[in-house]
Amino acid sequence: MGRVHVSRHPLIQHKLALLRSVDTEPKKFRELVREISILLAYEATQDLALEPVDVTTPLARTTGMALSEKIGLIPILRAGLGMVEGIWEMMPTAEVWHIGLYRDHRTLQPVAYYSKLPVSPTVQVCLILDPMLATGGSAVAAADMLKRWGAKRIKYLGIIAAPEGVRFLEQHHPDVDIHLGVIDERLTPEPSAPGDPPKGYIVPGLGDAGDRQFGTG
Ligand code: PRP
Ligand code: URA
Repeated sequence: MGRVHVSRHPLIQHKLALLRSVDTEPKKFRELVREISILLAYEATQDLALEPVDVTTPLARTTGMALSEKIGLIPILRAGLGMVEGIWEMMPTAEVWHIGLYRDHRTLQPVAYYSKLPVSPTVQVCLILDPMLATGGSAVAAADMLKRWGAKRIKYLGIIAAPEGVRFLEQHHPDVDIHLGVIDERLTPEPSAPGDPPKGYIVPGLGDAGDRQFGTG
């Protein structure tokens, strides 16, 4: 059974405030996404399996530990890309497999446009990386794709979530562990007046995570 973990780490909370700010420019935004991702991954990987290995130090032979499972980092394009590099530095033997999904602006349904997963799974643990869990449609679609691929153990790492998205992901994939920086208040409704934000954005959130990283929009 998967569980929802919301970080209480002071460094994550401090960096989240900077990330949310409308005054944070793309370079700083990318740095913060990278740093928060490393901290989230630290928390999310506490149960990875280990095996003993022989080590020779300058003084003696001893037994050390090595990761015994192959890990896959699965960023959801585009915004998940910014979460890869820092985590990959922490686990350089991980494989990175990209999944391309975007939300249809009208229906908010995820549209899949890229996947190069090989025929059968090459990793034992998959970490789905995406900063924003809004309706949860993209996260559920990504976990569906990984399960069709044959993935057995999946963890989802997100920076900001809406309650609706967490519920949707839990309902569809109760076996997936969900690791989050924070759960926000709600999603924006259908705009009712000119100037209202588009529907389906997380409030207070940070806006569009892809646009803010890549300087678009
Ligand atoms: C954002 C985000 C998630 C998705 C979350 O991507 O990175 O993938 O929205 O929303 P959901 O939970 O309602 O599915 P977006 O669709 O904006 O694509 P982009 O990263 O390519 O801009
Ligand atoms: N995607 C984003 O980038 N931001 C949101 O608030 C919701 C979905």
